[in-house]
Amino acid sequence: METIMIAGGTGLIGQALEKKLLSNGHAVRILTRNPTKPNHYYWDPSIKNIDEIALQEVTVLINLSGAGIAEKRWSKKRKEELASSRIGTNEFLASKHSKFPKLKQFISSSGINCYSLKDSSKIYSESDDFGTDYLSQLVKDWETSADLFEKKCDVAKIRTAVVLSPNGGALSKMIPAIKMGIGSPLGSGNQPIAWIHIDDLVELFIFIIEHQLAGTYNALTACTSNKNFMKSLAKHFKKPFWFPNVPSFVLKLIFGEMSTVLLDGVQVSNQKITDLGFKFHKNNLEEALN
Ligand SMILES: NC(=O)c1ccc[n+]([C@@H]2O[C@H](COP(=O)([O-])OP(=O)(O)OC[C@H]3O[C@@H](n4cnc5c(N)ncnc54)[C@H](OP(=O)(O)O)[C@@H]3O)[C@@H](O)[C@H]2O)c1
Repeated sequence: METIMIAGGTGLIGQALEKKLLSNGHAVRILTRNPTKPNHYYWDPSIKNIDEIALQEVTVLINLSGAGIAEKRWSKKRKEELASSRIGTNEFLASKHSKFPKLKQFISSSGINCYSLKDSSKIYSESDDFGTDYLSQLVKDWETSADLFEKKCDVAKIRTAVVLSPNGGALSKMIPAIKMGIGSPLGSGNQPIAWIHIDDLVELFIFIIEHQLAGTYNALTACTSNKNFMKSLAKHFKKPFWFPNVPSFVLKLIFGEMSTVLLDGVQVSNQKITDLGFKFHKNNLEEALN
């Protein structure tokens, strides 16, 4: 059994992962800026403060920290926060590597929105280049900062798709419009959305820990079009789905550069992890939404 520390473990993914790791018998410590529970430990990466005693027994370190990508418009200040809460936290943890004498593996969260958007017919895999847009470059720098641990231990980077969870995340932002019966495709509606159910994502993290894997892994169950995704949600809530597409220019006006999260997307493959024996259990979008 491992002693697993999750930085940024109080959020959507961290809470689900903690629960499953504990039920599998691992010891779990959470690094948070606001400790409220006995297994919570204080850090504040922005002022380079951390409870070093908590690090000593840790064998696996996971960093899930990150200010919400789609929470606020991407002003210069917000971009600095998006970067410092990901790249800055990885760099800070790496600067403390000597305080983790037993560390075997470092796992960094990463994002699936990192591939070149040039070819809509291509299915992208982990060996493909990063795109040149803001998010792709953020992910590139995020993963480079994770690699600072390479001299110390195995490093895995999990390029996570849109997580489907009843407890928040992207779905909680989409559901209100759908429930009001005004759900509609965004932009052309043809752009792919890569998705994964929270239970499968948690199992994927555990698979990577138990097999002590290193490298980059796309964490998605499947891709579907934005139109099909919104239609499936409307069907789930037994709501109509006949409104016209929300034009791209409207979304650009409302969200600025952040509208790329809604309007862009490519097809991505999960073959690397399935070839290693990982099995997704919520394979069908309608089942996953249920
Ligand atoms: N959910 C998704 O659909 C999705 C998809 C792709 C990638 N990801 C990535 O996966 C990671 C975890 O996602 P999540 O959905 O669990 O996120 P979340 O619910 O927003 O939680 C992220 C955690 O990061 C910490 N955090 C936030 N701002 C911070 C800052 N400025 N400095 C340091 N820590 C900060 C918070 O911990 P404390 O407040 O306790 O310190 C928070 O609990 C994130 O990096 C996210 O970008 C998520």
